[in-house]
Amino acid sequence: MCGIVGAIADRDVVPVLIEGLKRLEYRGYDSAGIAVVDGADIRRVRRTGRVAAMEDASAAEGFAATLGIGHTRWATHGGVTESNAHPHVSHGVALVHNGIIENHEQQRERLKALGYEFESQTDTEVIAHLIHHYLQDGADLLAALQRAVKELHGAYALAVVSRKEPERMVVARMGCPLLVGLGEGENFVASDVSAILQATRRVIFLEEGDTAEISRDAVRVFDGDDQPVQREEHLSDVSLSSLELGPYRHFMQKEIHEQPRALGDTMEAIIDAGGFEPTLFGKDADAVLREVEGVQILACGTSFYAGSVARYWIEAISGLPCSVEIASEYRYRTAVANPKHLVVTISQSGETLDTMEALKYAKSLGQDLTLSICNVPESAIPRASRLVFYTRAGAEIGVASTKAFTTQLVGLFALAATLAKVNGRLPEAKEAEYIEALRHLPGDVQHALNLEPQVAMWSEHFTPREHALFLGRGVHYPIALEGALKLKEISYIHAEAYPAGELKHGPLALVDDDMPVVVIAPNDSLLEKVKSNMQEVRARGGQLFVFTDADSNFADSEGVHVIRTERHVGVLSPIVHTIPVQMLAYHVALARGTDVDKPRNLAKSVTVE
Ligand code: AGP
Repeated sequence: MCGIVGAIADRDVVPVLIEGLKRLEYRGYDSAGIAVVDGADIRRVRRTGRVAAMEDASAAEGFAATLGIGHTRWATHGGVTESNAHPHVSHGVALVHNGIIENHEQQRERLKALGYEFESQTDTEVIAHLIHHYLQDGADLLAALQRAVKELHGAYALAVVSRKEPERMVVARMGCPLLVGLGEGENFVASDVSAILQATRRVIFLEEGDTAEISRDAVRVFDGDDQPVQREEHLSDVSLSSLELGPYRHFMQKEIHEQPRALGDTMEAIIDAGGFEPTLFGKDADAVLREVEGVQILACGTSFYAGSVARYWIEAISGLPCSVEIASEYRYRTAVANPKHLVVTISQSGETLDTMEALKYAKSLGQDLTLSICNVPESAIPRASRLVFYTRAGAEIGVASTKAFTTQLVGLFALAATLAKVNGRLPEAKEAEYIEALRHLPGDVQHALNLEPQVAMWSEHFTPREHALFLGRGVHYPIALEGALKLKEISYIHAEAYPAGELKHGPLALVDDDMPVVVIAPNDSLLEKVKSNMQEVRARGGQLFVFTDADSNFADSEGVHVIRTERHVGVLSPIVHTIPVQMLAYHVALARGTDVDKPRNLAKSVTVE
């Protein structure tokens, strides 16, 4: 949450900052601001709302400078107001911050006693004053930052400039992502590479506890003990076109339609490896996976639902016990650790704080066998894991996760099959059958996408409603959960999902002719059970909206609307059945006129508790 960008160059950096903030807006969009060093002054502009509003204000005020920092905020401490927007300034020091400072109240009291006055309710402002305090004490900007961060508890990525030091900016990182972009005679800093791709692809990922000093011609990095260190340079392969909308109206729509490509790219790794080989998960994987006697999955939101599908696959295919838990719950309970269980964290962004902390907690309990399924290379969670499977969805910009989810499912399916293989439970014929199913998957998903006009027509049944129910059974129950999450997240319709057999134990009381009920009902072994559950709904006047496949012999009838995918695709059916629920949410949101890519109150990467 919150995006940071900074630049130092011989040219005007304001357009770089604004462009960078627009690319980072997915991280938070409550307010935006920039601060530039202009002569011997700091100039700052902040606005609540989107970057575009701040851009207009900066243009009106004629902002131009060769050194500056910018921020887009997702509010935590303090409401959405201009005075809480970043950058925060203390006597000529300007600073942007991503993260949360846990001891900000103590620091605030201490700084007040030293005579500092506060103009915001944020946890961030204390850092600006603290740095100024150490500057007053004789430190230079870098030393002042290094002293200040040692007094902070919590998570931060920081970029700082001072009117007294117009030739450099200084930055620090702990618990939140921050990278340095290397240009020719100009350098940059950003929360993620998308913000600076317009200027450079050469990046250095800062490590936990690092600080750095960035001038036009040099970047000096220091470790947590303030000792100079070298950090490896990487060449980013994120393409600018992947960050553009192209012919689509929304990133979510684009990302839904990119799924055949994303799934194809992700499974290419499996084909290249010659099947379900441990090497898919890293060099160490063979030794690690052979030790595994069970699986513990930890994740949040949509990634948690991917894990919930995986539980069915892992137990059925590999025969190993598997549990899946919401990371924010796991991290605060007294868990019974089993060092022989593989801890699998799933995170699109690789920086979700709850998932990261759950992983740390598992490790602290002696769980050393760790694997991350992630879409962002070099992000924090895979870096903290022994094994990793990178999904190849490409940048996902829409806050509602779509292609990241389905590609996570491919990675998790590969894990289930690989665990089976190392345990001698995957006969060659079965492996070949699974590979064949994966090969067909992009085509099967494309067929599901072709159903969009029919799905779009259903949206009129949902648009005027305030509630909806989603039902599924077995491995499709998590798809019902995902469908409900998508709908509530972007259309603001209250939606709940239940295993269809659970309906009669309570939620059936909600069903009347005002309640649309979406059912995921492929032609699998539970189909007849689901049909009975649907009768229970119809008998109470509920309208049924059934996603099934051509093999299931469902027909439209009074109160029963049916959309069929081309065929039942067997074990990978949950992936194919995700597509219609994503499209339904998208079209309902479109009809309700919500901000599809930036739904209210949310942000793409959740780096706070
Ligand atoms: C999904 O549409 C969400 N926006 C959200 O639930 C997300 O999946 C969750 O915050 C976890 O994010 P991660 O995969 O980046 O860890």
